[in-house]
Amino acid sequence: MRTSAERSPSTPMTGSNLASNPLLDLAVVHDHDTAMRAVDVIRKKRDGEALSASEIAAFVEAATRGHWPDYQLSALLMAIFCRGMNSEETTHLTSCMTRSGQILRHDEIPGPKGDKHSTGGVSDSTSLVLVPVAAECGVIVPMMSGRALGHTGGTLDKLDAIPGFRTQLTVPEMKSALRQVGAVMIGQTAEVAPADRKLYALRDVTATVECIPLIAASIMSKKLAEGIESLVLDVKFGGGAFIKDLPRSRQLAEAMVAIGKAHGVRTQAVLTAMDAPLGNAIGNSLEVIECLEVLRGQGPRDLTELSLDLAARLVFRAGVTRSLPEAHQRVRQVWQSGAALERWRRIVEQQGGDPHYLDDPFRLPRAPVRRTVKAEREGYVTSIFAEPLGVAAMRLGAGRQRAEDTVDHGVGIRLAVRVGEEVKIGDRLAEIWARSEQDACEAAHVVLRSCRIDESPAISMPVIRDTID
Ligand code: URA
Repeated sequence: MRTSAERSPSTPMTGSNLASNPLLDLAVVHDHDTAMRAVDVIRKKRDGEALSASEIAAFVEAATRGHWPDYQLSALLMAIFCRGMNSEETTHLTSCMTRSGQILRHDEIPGPKGDKHSTGGVSDSTSLVLVPVAAECGVIVPMMSGRALGHTGGTLDKLDAIPGFRTQLTVPEMKSALRQVGAVMIGQTAEVAPADRKLYALRDVTATVECIPLIAASIMSKKLAEGIESLVLDVKFGGGAFIKDLPRSRQLAEAMVAIGKAHGVRTQAVLTAMDAPLGNAIGNSLEVIECLEVLRGQGPRDLTELSLDLAARLVFRAGVTRSLPEAHQRVRQVWQSGAALERWRRIVEQQGGDPHYLDDPFRLPRAPVRRTVKAEREGYVTSIFAEPLGVAAMRLGAGRQRAEDTVDHGVGIRLAVRVGEEVKIGDRLAEIWARSEQDACEAAHVVLRSCRIDESPAISMPVIRDTID
């Protein structure tokens, strides 16, 4: 569906219109806003018109301070989803969302500040590997992430699976973590990126996620508020991504790179395929355990390689090394030596998490019903469809169907096969962890439908397809 592409004629998203437009000053916009009615702004966007800077500022202000009820915020999100936003509107939205809270600086902490963000995928837990690797290489990483969104997992929900791990830190606590262990992994707070905190949660449950302007503003507002100098974006495309096709994911990547550069953040986007799940695990505890396996050198190859590749790009962009090959070497060295794993232990401990889970993963929550799914025909696995598996994990409880739902960290699916493997009847395709037999049975049907088995093997494609600087 192309509903949310940028439709209106627009000026290109350049650096100058971001940095110097006085209309972006929230303080100026405020004064006009008292008389602005939510219903008029919604109607205007519903009818396909571009919103003014002050209307966008009123919307962001309302999301931040609770001036509009959720149904009006959601109605405007849906209107934006259906009608799109031009590049000027996207720029205004990002800017207002960034300024909805504090914009951090970490000048007092020595070292280059950098981060990575993914547009969202299934079994996409690269952050839990990249953060300790990059920190061990000398990058200071103030990572602000989101919760599960739609059928995709969220870094914060995965971290919450670790007993005691706190993702809601105050700014002084965050800075202290950066000083002590060189990295922190947190969510949007009332102090930093509060508008995204509200809008992200509403989008998750109102079918308004798959929208280029909303994704760009959501991601870049968090990243610009973090106080970083370099950023690597993992922009996914394919069946398991929010943006399915390569041209539109390129459009999203270009929009975010332009916003980053306009704010003086060295930004690179990497376009990566997300048709099959990246790793084997789908579900919060399972993904945390899989990342531990990756840090120990025993994880799935695709998750390991992409995590290390993105980490190397960040290390290079942050200026730690003089070339990308040198960054790759450095990253592999800290990974192979076990130094990154030890850094992860310190990061977990620093944020209140129980580091003993590293030695005993059974300390993480695990649902009681375990079921094995077996192949019903023989042949080669030619596709594993990520999106239905992501939805199945969400239905098991790994994500939310309503805003007030609590996430179940112990449920999920662990695949036992990869695309390209040969299977015989009765071979294991996956293990499911569920709260009830019925849930497990429903998920098992999805696994069987999602693993396509053919007589001949498929041609394998690389995960990274392109980069945008
Ligand atoms: N990640 C985000 O932070 N926001 C989105 O909209 C999608 C992925």
